[in-house]
This record gives sequence, structure tokens and C-alpha cells, in this order.
Amino acid sequence: MPKPLNIGMIGYGFMGRAHSNGYRRVSNFFDLEYTPVLKAVCARNKESAQAFANTWGYESVETDWRALLERDDIDAIDVCVPNNLHAEISIAAAEAGKMILCEKPLAMNVAEGETMVAAVEKAGVPNMVWYNYRRVPAVTLAKQLVDEGRLGRIFHYRAQFLQDWTIAEDVPQGGAALWRLDAAAAGSGVTGDLLAHCIDTALWINGSINTVSAMTETFVKERMHNLTGKVEKVGIDDACAFLARFENGSLATFESTRYARGHKALYTFEINGEHGSIAWDLHDLHRLSWFDHRDEGILRGWRSIHVTDGEHPYMDKWWVPGLQIGYEHSFVHQVADFLASLSSGEPAGPTFRDALETQKVCDAVLSSAADGQWVTVG
Ligand SMILES: NC(=O)c1ccc[n+]([C@@H]2O[C@H](COP(=O)([O-])OP(=O)(O)OC[C@H]3O[C@@H](n4cnc5c(N)ncnc54)[C@H](O)[C@@H]3O)[C@@H](O)[C@H]2O)c1
Repeated sequence: MPKPLNIGMIGYGFMGRAHSNGYRRVSNFFDLEYTPVLKAVCARNKESAQAFANTWGYESVETDWRALLERDDIDAIDVCVPNNLHAEISIAAAEAGKMILCEKPLAMNVAEGETMVAAVEKAGVPNMVWYNYRRVPAVTLAKQLVDEGRLGRIFHYRAQFLQDWTIAEDVPQGGAALWRLDAAAAGSGVTGDLLAHCIDTALWINGSINTVSAMTETFVKERMHNLTGKVEKVGIDDACAFLARFENGSLATFESTRYARGHKALYTFEINGEHGSIAWDLHDLHRLSWFDHRDEGILRGWRSIHVTDGEHPYMDKWWVPGLQIGYEHSFVHQVADFLASLSSGEPAGPTFRDALETQKVCDAVLSSAADGQWVTVG
């Protein structure tokens, strides 16, 4: 029988569902020493928390996250709440000796992130941040190909994350569902929300970023605030584009916006190396595009790898070759890797310390955009 890992989840929105699904499915597909037990879900409204608990199979509900941290029957705290609560909850959870799985971005800023890293390292508790795109098999395969040196020297890294849901001026800011538009809850706009994903993947695959030069824009300057009922200044970046230099000498461009009409969640990246290139696209997430200049001339061209073979990362755990998996599975994989890390003692990345590196790039990007200067990361 696998050993139980008792989960206490705080927040039950979009990520609460994605994580719950990951916890529920992981042991059906991965053979691990530990299995998650959905012990408690915490949210401020008892009735809706209970409804969520009933749907997903949580044994109990709490309405105050502090009460959840005090419970002896909880091993791991899952932080699925807006960004402004990540630090307070994670630090208290570490002090209570709980393992922590925290949503991204790690923190509102680097200073806050550093206190979180210090807290988990002082407590010695396993910790991880949900940069889930690392666990899309095609993205994991991209990392594997770069690590194997198949691209040779890397010249370029290019990433975008495009959406279009805040173009209307009458979209309010703040409160449930729209906290992302409120700087007090989100910290930043597309930089911390979307580019953080692109940066995490980039640092993981291509190493550290040394310097950045960024520009941001807030296209709609004032919006009605749901919490105050007043029209207030918008403090987040609606769009951000930045140039970067990596430690390995490669040059990069990153772009994110919520004003790219027609795009819903178009996360793409392309890497150009001496021998070849790879490209990936979230709208077609089970494929990896690959170009190898060493191929025979008449056959040379981009090939689209259907990442469904048993030899591909994670795919031996699912169906048969040719049958693809999707977005939700990246969370199943992240849970599986976290559980495996408890057996091996080898931390599942990104840890809080790893995610602090992404936070440093985000802060450097916002600082560069504010000053109009190149900024050294960290
Ligand atoms: N990994 C990813 O791809 C990904 C995707 C979306 C969101 N996120 C991150 O996940 C976090 C949550 O985002 P979301 O989209 O799930 O938001 P959401 O608005 O759908 O859900 C937030 C939840 O937090 C709850 N909440 C707020 N304050 C609380 C409090 N004081 N106590 C208990 N519960 C409280 C809300 O009731 C809600 O259930 C954010 O940090 C976000 O950046 C990550």
C-alpha cells in the first residue's frame, strides 16, 4: 500500500481544480511510494468550499487557512490563492513544519521571495512552485534535446505568451476572478502572470539570464475597482516586451500581452542553435517542431514530432503511441515528480530557490521598463 501524503489545499479556483485533478489521477498512472490524500480544502466561504469538497472528494473544509496549518493531519499545504497571499501563507506553513506546493509566481517581488526561500530552507521542508509547463512532455523533450547538445551552441531564444481578454475598457479590476488586473493582489500584470512561465522555461532549458531591457504599457489606464466600487488607476502592465542576454551568450526576445486579439493562451517558444532549431506551441502542446541542419539536403526541413511515444518523457505512463495527452496532465506529472522526490530525497524543481531566479528576472524587467535602461538581473 502506498504511504499517504495528506494535502491541505488553500483556494479552489482555476488552479484548485487543476491541482485536485492532478492529486486524484496521479496514483492511477504512476507507481509511487506516496499517494495524495485530499484531506482538506480551505476557502473563506464555507458553503462553496463544501460544494468543492463534495465534487472533488476532499474529506473536510476549513474557512481560515491558519486553522488548516494547525492541523496535525495535514502534511503538505497547496497554495492556490492570488499572488499577494503566497508569502504570508508559505512562511507560516514552513514554520508549522508543512511541505509546501505554491502556485507561481513565487512572490510579489524578489524581497518577498527571499523571505520565502529563507523560511522553507530554515524549516527544511520540501517545497515546489507550480511552473507546470516544464512537465508538458514536448517541453521536457525540448530540454532533453538541448541538454544532449543536439542543437550545439545556442544563438537565440524567443518566447511569447499572448492573450486578448482585457481589451474592453469596461472590464473591472480586483476581486474574485479579476484580481489579476489589481496590482495590490497580483504584483504585476503580464510580467508576473504570463512572462514568468516563459522565463521559468527559458532558465530551465537555456540557463541564466544576465541582463534585460524592457518596455511595458498599460493600455487602459483606469478601471472600476470591484472592491471599492470606484474608478481607479490601473497599476499592472497590460503588455511587456523585453530583450535579454543569457549567460551562455545567446540573445532572447520575450513578449506578452493581453491585447493580442484572437489569441487566448498562445505560449510559444523557439530556440535556434548551431545545428538545429526547436519550436513549441501551447495550442498544439503535444507536438515539438524540430529542424536539423545535418539532415541530408534534399530531405532537410522542419519535422513535427508527435510526442506520444513511450520513449518520450512521461508518455510510458499513459496510453499507447499515437494517443496524445493535454494541459491537465502537466499537473499530474508535477504531482508525480513531487511525490517521487519525497522517496528519492532529490528535490522536484522548481523549488522556491529556483523560482526566486524567475522572480529576479521579472523584477529586473519591471525595473528596466520603469527606467528605460538595461538592467543586470539580481
Ligand atoms: N501554473 C499555472 O499555469 C497557473 C495558472 C493560473 C493561475 N496560476 C496561479 O495560481 C494562483 C491562483 O490563481 P487562479 O487562477 O486559481 O485564481 P482563481 O481566482 O481562480 O482562484 C483563487 C482562489 O483563491 C481563493 N482565495 C482568495 N483569498 C483567499 C483567502 N484569504 N483564503 C482562502 N482562499 C482565498 C478564492 O476564493 C479562489 O478560490 C495565482 O497565484 C496564479 O498566478 C497558475
